[in-house]
Amino acid sequence: MKFATKAIHAGSEPDPLTGAVMPPIYMTSTYVQEAPGINKGYDYTRANNPNFVRLEQQLAALEGAEHATVFSSGIGALSAMVTTLAQGDRVVALDGVYGGTWRLFNNVFNHFGVTFESHSSDDLENALKSNPKWLLFETPTNPLLEVFDIAHFVEMAHAHGALVIVDNTFASPYCQNPLSLGADVVWHSCTKYLGGHSDVIGGVVMTNLPELKEKLDFARKAIGVNPSPFDCWLITRGVKTLAVRMEQHQRNALAVAEFLEKHPKVKRVYYPGLPSHPQHAIAVKQMHGFSGMLSAEFHLSLEETKKLISSFKLFALAESLGGVESLVSHPAIMTHASIPAQERTRMGITDGLVRFSVGIEDASDLIEDLQLAISK
Ligand SMILES: Cc1ncc(COP(=O)(O)O)c(C=O)c1O
Repeated sequence: MKFATKAIHAGSEPDPLTGAVMPPIYMTSTYVQEAPGINKGYDYTRANNPNFVRLEQQLAALEGAEHATVFSSGIGALSAMVTTLAQGDRVVALDGVYGGTWRLFNNVFNHFGVTFESHSSDDLENALKSNPKWLLFETPTNPLLEVFDIAHFVEMAHAHGALVIVDNTFASPYCQNPLSLGADVVWHSCTKYLGGHSDVIGGVVMTNLPELKEKLDFARKAIGVNPSPFDCWLITRGVKTLAVRMEQHQRNALAVAEFLEKHPKVKRVYYPGLPSHPQHAIAVKQMHGFSGMLSAEFHLSLEETKKLISSFKLFALAESLGGVESLVSHPAIMTHASIPAQERTRMGITDGLVRFSVGIEDASDLIEDLQLAISK
């Protein structure tokens, strides 16, 4: 089956009891046991629930993964992954991970003896010499949309015995499948493109390693980072339209990127779909599309940038991304505020940098909104 067909049918067989075409929502915390310890595969919803299983089948089919485990949030998914590490383990990241990922390692798991370092890709060979347990990265990165050559970094990391963990949230499985390029683990915030309607928080980890799947299912139950059955149902519903939404997201994003690139108030546009993007060739090689995220650096001071992003009519000033509606954010003040200023500057997250999650509205309305706000 092709992507759009899998998105609708994988994990969505009609309900055997009633024939319902849409999966029922199993809002139950517990399950009757036929005899002590004998059940139908479910005993308590912190451990498992039919809506988790349906969503896991659907997402695994789209990522080309053998296994998926769903969680209460993207950060819950990563936290569960970290429980598979031990005191003294090191994680090397490439610059450009989500601020909350950075915070989870530097303000929480550092207390438990897990070390985290973020490096530029030029430094990676050096950083891998100390044999970290994981190489962790996002591509395209957040918020500068840098594209990393997944197959190349997998080869480097594997040569040093590190597991490769890729956050595929920005691309979505429609635009990129890191497992097919050799990555060991893919995780997503389902809150974004997968859910797609800014109405649910969720996360997922996918892998072809059966022993990891077992550890992740255990972690969900042991630390209590299970999603709700209703949230899984909402994500399943959202994923059914992922293909059509992503087509419109990326069409609109390209139109917005081309408009901004020509605007005199704009210093630089970061969008992997633009031929001017420094890693455009890598993006063409490893992605099936360029998604709907882009950033632009304006020739504006911090105060002017704040005024600009508060004056759009359609681009709502809000954190998050991947919903049907367009959003705008200021990484230095919003998504990446938890990263110290000096570190942010080293990464290139400047005061004039604005991030856009381009929605699926009509592109001409979005461009008019940008035009009017910038001219003000
Ligand atoms: C790229 C990326 N990864 C992970 C997360 C964390 O996901 P969640 O908010 O669902 O915990 C986010 C949240 O914004 C994100 O943007």
